[in-house]
Amino acid sequence: MAGINKIAVFGACSTIAYETLKLFAKDGAAFYLCDRDEDELKRLSGDLSVRGAGDVGYSVFNALDERSISEAVENILSKHPDLDGLFIAYGTLPDQKRCETDIREMNKAFTINFTSTASILTQMADHFVKQKHGTIAVISSVAGDRGRESNYVYGSVKSALTAFTSGLRQRLCKAGVHVLTIKPGMVDTPMTADFKKGILFSQPDVIGKGIYNAILKKKNIVYLPWFWRWIMFIIRNIPERIFKKITL
Ligand SMILES: NC(=O)c1ccc[n+]([C@@H]2O[C@H](COP(=O)([O-])OP(=O)(O)OC[C@H]3O[C@@H](n4cnc5c(N)ncnc54)[C@H](OP(=O)(O)O)[C@@H]3O)[C@@H](O)[C@H]2O)c1
Repeated sequence: MAGINKIAVFGACSTIAYETLKLFAKDGAAFYLCDRDEDELKRLSGDLSVRGAGDVGYSVFNALDERSISEAVENILSKHPDLDGLFIAYGTLPDQKRCETDIREMNKAFTINFTSTASILTQMADHFVKQKHGTIAVISSVAGDRGRESNYVYGSVKSALTAFTSGLRQRLCKAGVHVLTIKPGMVDTPMTADFKKGILFSQPDVIGKGIYNAILKKKNIVYLPWFWRWIMFIIRNIPERIFKKITL
């Protein structure tokens, strides 16, 4: 397959990851799956094997547990010393209102959605630099393009992730390693179960296909679906003196 053949996935059981992995499975890719529910990991391993995947291994990890991250990284690299793909797709949507008064909840949101990912990327980067090839794809969000009253904690973690992957892309590019930043808009998954679904909502299979294509085409930053690039262009360019007075 053009692209990547041995892929480690953190957040493998996420709905968006699943829709992406199904496409790589069809190409015969091997996987090392990481998430926090062992039963789901087993079920997913079987599912991807039936769909044509090569070897499928897994490790349980929790983004709140630094040791489980290091163990997963160790397991991945001992199983696949020639790993050429890393896909990071886990996350939570913090309760914005609660985060405004509960510092522990806010810090937890940062640990799950940013600090742990930065830790995984930092631990895995060395492998890719030494190998001098490979692709790293990370799911950020359009929410990171501008902090908004209704979800600025989530927006901040995704903004940090976007900046981190931008710097990492510049650094790893010199070693022949590619880094993709993925910015989906609103997607109909368990994460948004409580939201009323409007026309701007996309189905996860559309996003999965977009991620698959972006990885194969070695895109740097991808908005999914494409129209979010223009929506966020407008939102980013509203002057601050007006922006602060509206409710978004
Ligand atoms: N849905 C959207 O509208 C949307 C938009 C833009 C970006 N995104 C991003 O897309 C990615 C995938 O989200 P999704 O929509 O596919 O949601 P999802 O189906 O709810 O998946 C979230 C995944 O994250 C895992 N997770 C949560 N807390 C964890 C922890 N402490 N340690 C390890 N794993 C943990 C979940 O595991 P459990 O099942 O065990 O909880 C689940 O596998 C996330 O980064 C999200 O921020 C989503």
